[in-house]
Amino acid sequence: MKHLLKLAGMRELEAREILRLARVAKKARGKKGLSKGPLTGQIWALIFTKASTRTRVSFEVAIRELGGVPSFLSAAEIQLGRGELVRDTARVMGRMVHGAVIRTFAQGDVEEFAEFAKIPTINALTDDEHPCQILSDIFTIEEKRGSIRGKRVAFIGDAACNVPRSWAEAAKIFDFHLVCGAPKEFQPLAVGKHVSWTEDPREAAQGADVLYTDVWVSMGKEAETAEREKVFAPYQINQKLVGLAKKGALVLHCLPAYRGKEISAEILEERAVDIFDQAENRLHTQKGILQWIVSKPMKGKG
Ligand code: CP
Ligand code: NVA
Repeated sequence: MKHLLKLAGMRELEAREILRLARVAKKARGKKGLSKGPLTGQIWALIFTKASTRTRVSFEVAIRELGGVPSFLSAAEIQLGRGELVRDTARVMGRMVHGAVIRTFAQGDVEEFAEFAKIPTINALTDDEHPCQILSDIFTIEEKRGSIRGKRVAFIGDAACNVPRSWAEAAKIFDFHLVCGAPKEFQPLAVGKHVSWTEDPREAAQGADVLYTDVWVSMGKEAETAEREKVFAPYQINQKLVGLAKKGALVLHCLPAYRGKEISAEILEERAVDIFDQAENRLHTQKGILQWIVSKPMKGKG
């Protein structure tokens, strides 16, 4: 049985297969009937402890367009929110539904769910990783600029949160360079051959093929808002920073965006076509992920 719990440890062959399926799904959208897809006869639970617009809607639509039925469950409205154990919730769900998409805080909870439910399980964001987002962002970059191999992706902002952590794993899988421009206290977890860090956002942006940012205040960190807004103030993607990147560099944002914080209103609007194509691609990539997960395991080392 396959899961998508994190990018860490994923083989390039599998990740490339997801992107291939996403490309096919994007081309085919609107041409096929809704009832003949690979999820026909399946019910998928979406268990969300944190807010979501893009991830929730893209999974709900993707599951339906692949022939399945999504069942959205806010954690606050099921017994999980009143303290029922993840493992007990998982053992119930595993007997009733065919797959689960989970957004929560602890990575360990998604892993425990997969272990006890024994149904395909997808990480729709935890404090550690946001694998579906980054696979989709690679889809967007390759769609607009060709292969990501060897490119320089500059992440500006909170390099310790889930999104850049998944970027760092993706850099190893797809063989590109991730440079993080971030304050000392928010450095990436590990630097190495594929990941570097600088405190200077200008140095990070210099010569980048892609400039990327995420919110300064991730879900669950709201109590630190004032402190974070102070420390991240120099780490905004704006006209000046974009001027340092390569000519024709892409500017991407996983969204939601806070204009005047991690990105200037001017750049967000100037680059809106790319940024909202990026959001749309979440739908096509979720289809790639779902189709990959219900397909037979792939052979080869990749
Ligand atoms: N980028 C992203 O995951 O958006 P949502 O929080 O709206 O799902
Ligand atoms: N780092 C952000 C990502 C939102 C999609 C968060 O966790 O809130």
